[in-house]
Amino acid sequence: VRRITAPQITRRKGGDPIVSLTSYHAHTAAIVDKYADFILVGDSLGMVMHGMESTVGVSLELMIMHGKAVVRGTSRALVVVDMPFGTYEESPSVAFRNAARVMKETQCGAVKLEGGARMAETIRFLSERGIPVMAHIGLTPQSVNVMGGFKTQGRDEDSWTSHEEDARAVAEAGAFALVLEGMVEPLAARITKQIAIPTIGIGASAECDGQILVLEDMLGLNPTPPKFVKVYGNLGGQIEAAVKAYSEEVKDRSFPGESEVYR
Ligand code: KIV
Ligand code: NA
Repeated sequence: VRRITAPQITRRKGGDPIVSLTSYHAHTAAIVDKYADFILVGDSLGMVMHGMESTVGVSLELMIMHGKAVVRGTSRALVVVDMPFGTYEESPSVAFRNAARVMKETQCGAVKLEGGARMAETIRFLSERGIPVMAHIGLTPQSVNVMGGFKTQGRDEDSWTSHEEDARAVAEAGAFALVLEGMVEPLAARITKQIAIPTIGIGASAECDGQILVLEDMLGLNPTPPKFVKVYGNLGGQIEAAVKAYSEEVKDRSFPGESEVYR
């Protein structure tokens, strides 16, 4: 099966909602691959997989390692890999060098980076040179130290113009889609109407052209999920029950049983 491409995602603007989830891991990615149009190897893996307090500490090598795992585990969905903090902000040429490394080493189909108007020149530079770019505005977690926390954007209507300008700037620069994270619902709906590329919401609006969630959050593995997460599973509870049962069976010597030993 040929994979879904970045231009195919762009052509979904205003059509059937685009389905996406994050994944960092081959076996879960293979399941997500059956239903998602694209899979994001998000730098949220720093927090989810590696226990970091923010995404600021994530390295390019870590993104490449998990990007490879997800590409190997999938065949259908577009795989998008996040550019981590510090690998693309400095200049278009630095961004190109690092994004090209991600594309070559992981064989993913696109990268994502955070920022609006300030990243427009870089988005144009990359997309004109063979690297499809997904943009990401609103709550941008790599800027947590400047924002002073993970804060919902657009609560003050006076700030809407600057978010709308960011969305237009990345769309005009050639981004193939745009993640809207952590912003008030009417602002996300307005931006979706104003730009020609699909918007992908997370903590945004049902009017976005698609939705994304962090897989572990929606599976019920995060004990303190943000308000915008709908929890569709109880993997935390299931894992705990399984680990507890195993622990008891080891202690009472009922594991391994007859079928788990070689006679
Ligand atoms: O890193 C991530 O998981 C993301 C999504 C939440 C959009 O950037
Ligand atoms: Na991210």
